[in-house]
Amino acid sequence: MSISANTKINLIIGDPIFHSLSPFLHNFFYRKTRLSANFVFLASNIKEKGLEQSIFGIRALGINGLSCTIPHKTQIIQFLDQLDNKAKIIGAVNTVINQNSKLVGYNTDWLGVLIPLLVEKIPDFKLSLNYYDFTKNLPVFLWSQKSAVIGSGGAARAAVFALLSAGSEVWIFNRTIEKAEKIKKDFEIHFKQKIKVFGLNEIAKIKDCQIIFNSTDVGMNDKKDFSPVPKKYLNPNQILFDAVYKPKKTKFLKFGQEIGSKIIYGYQMLLWQAVFQFQIHTNKSLSLEIIQKMQKILTKKS
Ligand SMILES: NC(=O)c1ccc[n+]([C@@H]2O[C@H](COP(=O)([O-])OP(=O)(O)OC[C@H]3O[C@@H](n4cnc5c(N)ncnc54)[C@H](OP(=O)(O)O)[C@@H]3O)[C@@H](O)[C@H]2O)c1
Repeated sequence: MSISANTKINLIIGDPIFHSLSPFLHNFFYRKTRLSANFVFLASNIKEKGLEQSIFGIRALGINGLSCTIPHKTQIIQFLDQLDNKAKIIGAVNTVINQNSKLVGYNTDWLGVLIPLLVEKIPDFKLSLNYYDFTKNLPVFLWSQKSAVIGSGGAARAAVFALLSAGSEVWIFNRTIEKAEKIKKDFEIHFKQKIKVFGLNEIAKIKDCQIIFNSTDVGMNDKKDFSPVPKKYLNPNQILFDAVYKPKKTKFLKFGQEIGSKIIYGYQMLLWQAVFQFQIHTNKSLSLEIIQKMQKILTKKS
């Protein structure tokens, strides 16, 4: 099977985009599902200012689907024709499907947070790999738990939505308190659990949380020698989850490993958001076997 005039294009847009693993993941999925003649996944570096024009281009060229990343996840919403309900509440889109020139936006990042936690908590859970079925029958598996989210950007909004959807109370810790307050205001009308907000000067309170999700970029690039939480506030009963996937083992996760906490790597979020994005783009579900193959490959990557 090879690329032909009938092959549909899916595209990740962001700035910068050179480091993105999405083309690698999706083209692997197309090969394994024998869809390589039907779809190809490419990347395009789109500057913030060029977003509107690129959306005209996407309609004009008949691009099938988009994956979008920093800095477009929020800004893209104004150029879309329709939004999935969950993307509307989260206020960010990472997946777009082009239905005969009608662009519909979804968010699958929150599933990238929810599913690794679900697998950790209930390893024998019979996971539906169909986006529509899974999201209709969400398991409430974090009832009466307290979870912390550090940060208040796009990844934080997806994480807060995932944790609240799974039944947890959520404490948001952020450098800029107003951004955390805004998340609280946007989400509390949709959920009955408590949402609390703290500045980073109150990070000691995090020791009372059972799950800690780092959604800041502390741990990557020039911040790779730092952890968003000092080791003294972590304990072996917590699950630590980092959105940062490069490096795989961040300082935060190293701390967790040293004290015996359960740790979840950022590549797990990357994998699961891509699994459901694949389905929205192709209308086909992946098998668990293919997902596990990719998981093995990502586990070996540094
Ligand atoms: N694994 C995955 O699939 C996946 C998916 C999405 C994102 N991510 C990763 O998640 C991270 C955040 O992405 P995003 O889209 O949410 O970014 P974003 O919208 O720019 O938000 C970044 C957040 O980090 C905080 N922050 C930045 N530097 C900080 C520092 N030195 N100390 C404390 N807080 C700091 C910011 O605080 P202020 O509010 O005070 O500015 C902000 O709340 C990135 O590393 C991204 O690669 C991973």
